Amino acid sequence: MAEDGDRHRQSRLFTDDDGGFDAERARDESLPVEDGELIDTDELADHQRYVEGRGIYDERNRVNDLTGKEWKYATKSVIAESYPPDVQHDLRSEHGGQKPPRLCADLIERFSKAGDTVLDPFAGVGGTLLGASFCEHEGTGLREAIGFEQTRRWIEIYETVLERENEERRSRGEPPLSEQDVRHGDCADLIGEIPDDSVDLLLTDVPYWNMDELEQTRNERATRESKLGAFDADEDAGSAGNAEDTENVAERADDAASDESDTQSKAEWLADMAEKFDRFADAVAPDGHLVVFIGDMYREQSYEFLSADLAQAIESTAPVTLAANLIWYDPTKDLHVYGYPFSFVPSMVHQNVLVFRPNS
Ligand SMILES: C[S@@+](CC[C@H](N)C(=O)[O-])C[C@H]1O[C@@H](n2cnc3c(N)ncnc32)[C@H](O)[C@@H]1O
Repeated sequence: MAEDGDRHRQSRLFTDDDGGFDAERARDESLPVEDGELIDTDELADHQRYVEGRGIYDERNRVNDLTGKEWKYATKSVIAESYPPDVQHDLRSEHGGQKPPRLCADLIERFSKAGDTVLDPFAGVGGTLLGASFCEHEGTGLREAIGFEQTRRWIEIYETVLERENEERRSRGEPPLSEQDVRHGDCADLIGEIPDDSVDLLLTDVPYWNMDELEQTRNERATRESKLGAFDADEDAGSAGNAEDTENVAERADDAASDESDTQSKAEWLADMAEKFDRFADAVAPDGHLVVFIGDMYREQSYEFLSADLAQAIESTAPVTLAANLIWYDPTKDLHVYGYPFSFVPSMVHQNVLVFRPNS
């Protein structure tokens, strides 16, 4: 988890001369509670325990391993954090729709506990899988992750990323990241292998509806094929838009959609996603969560509220309820000015993160 000052504000009650957390002083003097008051450990309830430097953990917590203070921070509806390019970013960015592994790790920490199972049915180059592995060393413990991906190339990249990352970690004397279970194929088939109620968190980033006209799509396909070179044409990139380092629809379009979504209408795309999530929901435990990245789009003078459309489609088909829409705002994103000085066109510097709970 990021060492955010806000999140650990209570720790600042006990600072050393350099402003760092003084654990010894905290131990000797007293313990901070959620609102910065001081409390003696004897005053903690039976179900509470103090975690040094983090705050008070409530044993009744069924959602995650966060302390009260961390939980409070984690409920912020805006994640205003840039995740600098890392974890073999150059290699992963061949995908174009990759998510920062540490952003995924932060979400995994919010919606699962150590030892839980995480599923990403649209795994790409493994943002979720790497995030689940980071939790072992940078969070409260490893999550077992399963990923489905229809494009072999993306699986190969995930494997190479893990290999290179672990070489670097070993050379720095750090423990390696665990390898996760990535399965090649169509998620619509592979979901049948996952027992009902066995997944605690489904975290994914859906393949986009390609909004472009067929003509434009053909041009993009040519671009993509020249970019992707040896890729099997039947196993396509599948997504665009929510790239870690792409900011706008034009760049998004280059990153390609699957052949299927090239010709899908928006209604068909929504119906396809809703049907898939209906299947996925069976795999998720009753107290689990489904967390979905989806960017909105601006197209032909009109804002396409894809996140709202997708939330509604999923909620009306799958047995789940929308619990939250978090916004990931990346303050470091470049602004692209398209309409100036005649028309207001938003610079998309955010992504939506839809959070669903299974219906009870
Ligand atoms: C938005 S990307 C996911 C990127 C991922 N979050 C990452 O960090 O790399 C969506 C992925 O879903 C894959 N995909 C699309 N349809 C699929 C299907 N039916 N079964 C399995 N994978 C699929 C695409 O190939 C694409 O890599």
